[in-house]
Amino acid sequence: MTGKEALETSEAQIAVHWQEEEYYYPSTKFIAQANMTDEKIYDRFSLDNFPNCYKEYADLLDWYEYWHTILDTSDAPCWKWFTGAKINASYNCIDRHLPKNKNKTAIHFVPELENEKVEHITYQELYVRVNEVAALLQDFAGLKAGDRVTLHMPMTAELPITMLACARLGVIHSEVFGGFSGRAAADRVVDSGSRVLITIDSYYRGGALIDHKEKADIAVEAAGKEGQIVDKVLVWQRYPGKYSSSFPMINGRDFFVNDLLKKYYGKRIEPVPMPAEAPLFLMYTSGTTGKPKGCQHSTGGFLAYAAGTSKYVQDIHPEDVYWCMADIGWITGHSYIVYGPLALCASTVIYEGVPTYPDPGRCWRIAQDLDVNIFHTAPTLIRTLRKVGPDEPAKYNYEFKHMTSVGEPIEPEVWKWYYNVVGKGKAVIVDTWWQTETGGFLCSTLPAIKPMKPGSAGPGMPGIHPIIYDEDGNVLPEGAGKAGNICIQNPWPGAFQTIWGNRDRYVSTYYAKYCKNKDSKDWRDWPYISGDAAVDAPDGYYRILGRMDDVINVSGHRLGTKELESAALTVFEVAEAAVVPVNDDIKGKVPDLYAALKSGILPSDELAKKISNALSAEIGSIAKPRNVWLVPDMPKTRSGKIMRRVLSAISNKKDVDDVMTLANPEIVEVITKIVQK
Ligand code: WTA
Repeated sequence: MTGKEALETSEAQIAVHWQEEEYYYPSTKFIAQANMTDEKIYDRFSLDNFPNCYKEYADLLDWYEYWHTILDTSDAPCWKWFTGAKINASYNCIDRHLPKNKNKTAIHFVPELENEKVEHITYQELYVRVNEVAALLQDFAGLKAGDRVTLHMPMTAELPITMLACARLGVIHSEVFGGFSGRAAADRVVDSGSRVLITIDSYYRGGALIDHKEKADIAVEAAGKEGQIVDKVLVWQRYPGKYSSSFPMINGRDFFVNDLLKKYYGKRIEPVPMPAEAPLFLMYTSGTTGKPKGCQHSTGGFLAYAAGTSKYVQDIHPEDVYWCMADIGWITGHSYIVYGPLALCASTVIYEGVPTYPDPGRCWRIAQDLDVNIFHTAPTLIRTLRKVGPDEPAKYNYEFKHMTSVGEPIEPEVWKWYYNVVGKGKAVIVDTWWQTETGGFLCSTLPAIKPMKPGSAGPGMPGIHPIIYDEDGNVLPEGAGKAGNICIQNPWPGAFQTIWGNRDRYVSTYYAKYCKNKDSKDWRDWPYISGDAAVDAPDGYYRILGRMDDVINVSGHRLGTKELESAALTVFEVAEAAVVPVNDDIKGKVPDLYAALKSGILPSDELAKKISNALSAEIGSIAKPRNVWLVPDMPKTRSGKIMRRVLSAISNKKDVDDVMTLANPEIVEVITKIVQK
């Protein structure tokens, strides 16, 4: 899809997109306790005060040494924040809380099975466990600052424990979403150059104990074929002391963490003072090419931004019980389950399983039992809960002061159900727009200062100055109400530093298009390109319309169409594959896959299934297409490019519009018959 076509699509979307809504105001009760009620914060973070304004976020943390330069632009557009400073993320999330709060719960781990006990891990216990794991990683696994280690773990307390143990040593963690396949993990092991893989034997989802160890075997084998040798696989156990997997441990390669830990009982590891700009973690995400990119996040800048936004947008106080339902395998979990809340000494909830297991009341029971008062989830889940248990929340006696929506645009109708039924009309809502690349929120209201507007994320965060460009590089006037590419004019501390091992791709994807001068060391010449389309209303609130590039947002999960297409092409019979987004009431978008077969091969249901299974094996079950359509040929331009716009119109049952520019216009009717039969 060219940019022009994409923009036309988003202009068209606006016609069907929801209208501007009325404001909703926070209660005086909320305002009275809010962390940020000072409207002057927007002045303090104005462009005139940039970049020094970010000292206000950095001051939320403890530093070993302060920076000499707050923003170093000498390697533009690889921005360095707080250069010269030294900090440790593990220290900031744990040690510094001990004198006053060692008995406070840091993590509530809620197993999926309701008859299993919730684990309440105090800050002291977190300290002990993180130290012992850090000792193991250092001594047994031989890991040191700057090494990368791949984690392929589901939602379990051992995941943040492992992450924080890495951070203690300055080891760069790269956590892969547990639902991804072994092969997807292998790609990330290879790209990051990890020689240690940390996993778990099994975990619960939907009432079933999922065998997870097999994925490590697949990952190590596949990575080995590409020349990346994993010499140690560290295996946590869902039930310590008992092995819950049918895949044997490989002698000399696989080790039970729980066994090894006995040797490190009582060990303490001094946190390593890391340069602020040392990478803290990699988070792989999908883009416009087949290969996922490793977004490299810094230690000081990331943590300052996660802490600042958690404090002022999430309104987290140390006494709050905060539950973010994202998976730690995504950026939301890194910033807003682990690092942000723990840096602020909150109690963070980690839930192992499916939100509607065993029934649609589960979330609200957890909220009631733990007295959760801050709740954070994605529109897909809100839509699901509204569908399967619209009246459930009223049956439970929890009270939220604050709720977040993240990951996809939220329809005003869904927003209102969230507000009235889940929030019982008492909780504020923030609709937070951001990305894996950005480390933290870009647009959102500050809940005690700016009113809510259903369907709009809100203004730029303090210090974030959005700007909308059209395809030709013209800036759309503020409040124009026209769709365009939303960009950010200035750097900010949470932004990723580069794509791991691929600076050129970083520059070309995120900066090249609107860069004013490629030799410039001035940040003003390098607006950050988000890849999203948005509209700016006269009140300065942004409505995010969705991706402009070849990325499909399925239930808030980012899938690159190219990644799905290359997975389909691993099936021998497939000659060409094209993936398009289809609108879906619950998931927002779902992928439809079109495949043209090699000559002489006949379409069949088995073949369609084989292709669908290939997507699960290569990527993970989240990549399963809604439909696999086997078609005789693709609609193509005269230069041979597949016209995904046409396929998307067919899948979405919309008018295909002008097809006369196609090389093979007659195919449109043939495909329409197959799909809309
Ligand atoms: C989309 C998730 C509308 C957007 C934090 C973005 C949103 C992509 C919102 C990033 C929102 C995220 N409203 N759309 N509040 N938040 N998005 O990297 O298209 O998994 O580019 O980061 O999700 O997804 P990612």
